[in-house]
Order: sequence, then structure tokens, then C-alpha cells
Amino acid sequence: MVSLDLDFVRKQFPVFSDKESGRWAHLENAGGSYVPEHVISLVNNFFTKSKVQPYWDFGPSVKAGEAMDRAFDLLPATFNAASEEVHFGPSTSQNTYVLAQALRPTWEADDEIIVTNQDHEANIGAWRRLEMTGIKIREWEVNPTTGLLEVDDLEGLINERTKLLAVTHASNLAATINPIRNLADRIHEVGGIIVTDGVSFAPHAAIDVKQLDCDVYLYSTYKTYGPHVGLMYTSPRVLEQVENQGHFFNANNPTNRLTPAGPDHAAIAACAGIIDYYEDVFDHHFGSPDASSVRERILQVFELFGEHEQKIMAPLVEYISSRSDFRLIGSPSTSHSVRAPTVAFHSYSRSSKDIYLSLIEAGVSCGHGNFYARRLVEAVGLDAEDGVVRLSLVHYNTAEEVAKALDALEGMAP
Ligand SMILES: Cc1ncc(COP(=O)(O)O)c(C=O)c1O
Repeated sequence: MVSLDLDFVRKQFPVFSDKESGRWAHLENAGGSYVPEHVISLVNNFFTKSKVQPYWDFGPSVKAGEAMDRAFDLLPATFNAASEEVHFGPSTSQNTYVLAQALRPTWEADDEIIVTNQDHEANIGAWRRLEMTGIKIREWEVNPTTGLLEVDDLEGLINERTKLLAVTHASNLAATINPIRNLADRIHEVGGIIVTDGVSFAPHAAIDVKQLDCDVYLYSTYKTYGPHVGLMYTSPRVLEQVENQGHFFNANNPTNRLTPAGPDHAAIAACAGIIDYYEDVFDHHFGSPDASSVRERILQVFELFGEHEQKIMAPLVEYISSRSDFRLIGSPSTSHSVRAPTVAFHSYSRSSKDIYLSLIEAGVSCGHGNFYARRLVEAVGLDAEDGVVRLSLVHYNTAEEVAKALDALEGMAP
């Protein structure tokens, strides 16, 4: 059986050879991942050779357009979607904001939206704002002990006026994978749509919007080894319904309808480097890619990532769960199909800030606080500023880096 060649993987990321940055055990990946050489060289190329308005007929402009078109062609495979179904916006927060403006005219006063208190604010605030336009907001609350959403609690919130459910695929703190397909089926029964925030899921596993039957799915490429671009899939049904938010003369261009801002050309071009990286990982582990599609290769690469992530996450989740003075937020499962390798916890006897500072002292990069999931932190009974400590892993992390964090935690007696 093929397993992830970590030496190969880490060689693709220049940061690991940097004297200053490379000495950190980087366990703050949920805030933004490192980037491979593939992405860096595309940024460099764009700024060096084609930093001009794209799509004219002079050399550098042709190159700029081609570089962007590569990304427009390649990235939809990460959703299992078609090019005309994916919008390249500046961030997930801005994509939800624009989407909310675009959907509002399709609803009437007293129509209802369900938001959770588990999500990052990016998939709550834009929907809650619609309350001032007459939309009724209902909140699906987490279990205050575990931080988990329980499907039974949703039932009482759904009715024939429900137009939209906004819910995270995996929270950036609880990290537990929500049953999006079941939720989509339920919301579709009353004619509503589901908007899924996949920002904390996308670095760890392949997304399949068709299998999930999502109406909208969002993620940000700075968490998936690229620059900061917000990608948003919309189903053809949603795209037809929404009011154009772009310039009036772009109304019939599907990928401009929900992107009012002029795009960051270089960042979009550099997104293709994410796929180039996945392709190189595939080639290295499985040989020549001639027999399969980009999508199939992405699936195999994420299988490798997932197996490795599960291996390095398990000791961390087990250790945190075993400490009587710690509380893990989310599921204590060590299975990659149940939770992402993002581990948020707090102590009953010391502040999260104290733990965080000790981890940093030990050379572990991490953070503490609410990570913009402020409602979740408050719902589980914590101070919004001190919040939780978060250690978040991705496939390029090593067992030694996790051991460094475990040693530091062990040094903090209960
Ligand atoms: C789960 C989750 N959703 C949404 C966002 C917001 O993404 P963006 O910074 O692209 O607006 C983040 C960012 O940390 C996140 O972790």
C-alpha cells in the first residue's frame, strides 16, 4: 500500500528550508497553510512577466489571460463541479456577503433562514444581517458540553417558510464533520437551499458537491496551500435565481454574476499551482497520470493526505481527551472521516493564553481565542477572548511536530 512520502512533500514547501520559519512546529494551519513552490513560482512569474491587464492581444497580456484561464479550468475539479459553476471572489466572507444580497430579492418578509452558532462568523453574519430586511432568523444551537450540532434539534426549526440553512461542513474549532447530505435532503424537502462553509474541510479531504447535493459550497484557497482567493460553487438552480451583483453588462456571464469586484489576477493565476502541486504528489506516488482525470488524481492524493493526517492526529486527540483538566471541543474520535485534524481545547485550571504562550515557548506555532467562531466559544461557556487553544494539522506535519506539542502540554501539570 502506498503511503505519503513526507520527505517529498516537505521538499515542495520552501518554508521548511528557511532558517527562521522552518524551526517552528507549525500547528496553526487552520489559520492559513504554507504554500508549495508551484504556487510561489506562479505568483513570481505573473508579477515578473505579465502584470498587465489580461486578455488583450499583446504578448504579456495574452500570457496573463492564459495563466488565469488555467486556474478557471483547473480549480472546479476540487468541487467536482463545472467551470461555469465556480466563482472566484476575494474571500469566503465576501462571497457569503454578496450571495446574501443576491438571494434576498428572491424571498419575502417573514421568510426564514437557519444559521448555527457553530459556524465561523463568515457563514452567519451575512445571513443575520438580513433580519433588518424582514427575514426571520432561527438559530440551530450546539450542545453546550460538546460544541456539536445535533440533527434532532434542527427539526423544530424547519418549516414551509425556511428558505436557507447556512451550516459548516466542519467547524474551525469543533472540527467534526456535519452530515451535509442528510441536511441538504431535509432542507430540499421544504424547498429551501443549503449553503455550506467548507473552509475548514477543504484542506483535508476532497469535496464532492454533487454527492453532497449542496446548493452553495464555499472555501478559501489560502487554507489549501494557495493564495487568498474565495471559491464559491453555486448549483445551476441557485445561479438562475439570484439577482446579478456584477456590472449590468456582465449579467449574462455566469461567473461574473456574484463577483462585483475586479479580480486579483495574480492570485487567481497562482491558484493553478495548487493543482500543479497535487499533480506532482500524484506522479511521485502513483506514476504517470495518463489513465485518470484531474478529479480522480485529486481524490487519490487526498486519500494519501487523509491517512497521514489521521495517523498524526490520533495521539493528540487521545492525549487531550485523557487529561481530566482539559476539555476537547467536538468529537473525541480519531477517525479522519469523523473529524478534521483541528484540535481545540481548554483547561479548567489555567487560561488558554497561558497554554498558548507555553506552546510558543516550546517552538510550536498555534493560537488561542475564538478564531471568529465567537458564538461557539461563548456557547460552550468560555470567555470569548481567552477562548480555546487550537492546534491544527495538515498533511505536511510530522509525528515529531505533534510530539513537540505533546511534550509541552505534558510539562503543564494538571
Ligand atoms: C471555517 C471558516 N470559514 C470561513 C472563514 C473565512 O474565510 P475568509 O478569510 O476567506 O473570509 C474562515 C477563516 O478562517 C474559516 O476558518
